Amino acid sequence: MTLYQQRREWLLSQIEEDSVVILVGNTEKVRNKNILYPFRQDHDFYYLTGFAEPDAVAVLRPGSDQPFVLFNQPNDEYQEVWFAARSGQKGAVEKFGADKAYDIAKLEQQLPALLGLRKHVYLSDELGLYQHRLFDWLHSQRKQAKFDQPKIFRTLHSVLPYIQNKRRIKTTEELSLLKHAVNASVDAHKHVMSICKPGMTEQQITAEFFNRAASHGCSDVGYPTISAAGNNACCLHYSENRDALREGELLLLDAGGDYNYYTADITRTFPINGTFTSSQRDIYQLVLNSLDAAIETVKPGASWNSMYPMAMKVLAEGLIDLDILKCSLDEALETKVYEQFTLHKTGHWLGMDVHDVGAYLDESGDWVSLQPNMVFTIEPGLYFPMHCQQVDEKWRGMGVRIEDDILVTETGYENLSAAAPRTIADIESVMCA
Ligand code: GLY
Ligand code: MN
Ligand code: MN
Repeated sequence: MTLYQQRREWLLSQIEEDSVVILVGNTEKVRNKNILYPFRQDHDFYYLTGFAEPDAVAVLRPGSDQPFVLFNQPNDEYQEVWFAARSGQKGAVEKFGADKAYDIAKLEQQLPALLGLRKHVYLSDELGLYQHRLFDWLHSQRKQAKFDQPKIFRTLHSVLPYIQNKRRIKTTEELSLLKHAVNASVDAHKHVMSICKPGMTEQQITAEFFNRAASHGCSDVGYPTISAAGNNACCLHYSENRDALREGELLLLDAGGDYNYYTADITRTFPINGTFTSSQRDIYQLVLNSLDAAIETVKPGASWNSMYPMAMKVLAEGLIDLDILKCSLDEALETKVYEQFTLHKTGHWLGMDVHDVGAYLDESGDWVSLQPNMVFTIEPGLYFPMHCQQVDEKWRGMGVRIEDDILVTETGYENLSAAAPRTIADIESVMCA
């Protein structure tokens, strides 16, 4: 428990003494009739409590004799026989370190007293489950103040910037979970390469990836797997995954296992039959060169915006060399004409969320500088859909993206996903083995 307690104590040390923080967890969502989607706790809530059951609210009050109060579902024999075990209020105290726990049904009754007259009210309620009720409570408390008491106007502040900028810098414990997710996913990518062949389906690849990641303890994937054959790779968040794998086409597999709330995010693109054609080779090598050049810019103190322009410069140069862009490099960089083929930026923070939280700009509006223990993806791509008339036919119907997970170290970087085959030689050798 000390890990979560340390995080709560850190948060409370950042805000005013006369504050109260209300953290609302996720609720369950119906898939159809009486079938629910698998439950996933809100990540900020989990980060501060480690509590993964639905319908919970945590109330943190610095300086109080009960700094951590948890409202959660009570034990219920029927519900626990049919659905899942519950910690109940006893477990909330004993296992999760709450100073006091109440049945969530008592929230309405207890919360006004916990708010008291604390001046600063911080909230995290991503689903908006209680924010309107909170306004009502604050309003009615103000109305109830006696004539000789101050009628304080209290507004709600988001607590998320404090938590989420902290989440950007990974602790040793977080890095070990993240590395586990990445290593499991690297092995799963390798496995998929080794069994991939024409005649299989995108769905089979999706299942093979998850099966192998699960064998390393991943309970889920961090985002819907993108298993995109041929032209399907030109749809960036393709997730239908039902098409056949055809001879002569590429497969783009963007998949990451989720291990104890931390996810990998790795993309590899490889020939379905195990051997790149000459035009696939040209595009693949170009994307790999741009990824490698972007990775080389990573070090503490470098700007978040060092990677994207570097990747785009290499891609633009290569597109000119391949005669896909018919202009000078200066013109290409000026007009950004390459964007019609690159489509997206080249990365995002990575952690509990695949597109992890935390600002990309600092308080002056400048790109943040990289710091040790930040983790992010770099993922340049080139996309030439079948209908793209601007390029020669030989390029059409392929999308290539290569995505690695990069940790900033004290002196530079570590490519956490480097062991997933990424050079043409390594991919062909794994696939033909
Ligand atoms: N898998 C989603 C992304 O790469 O951002
Ligand atoms: Mn990504
Ligand atoms: Mn990805």
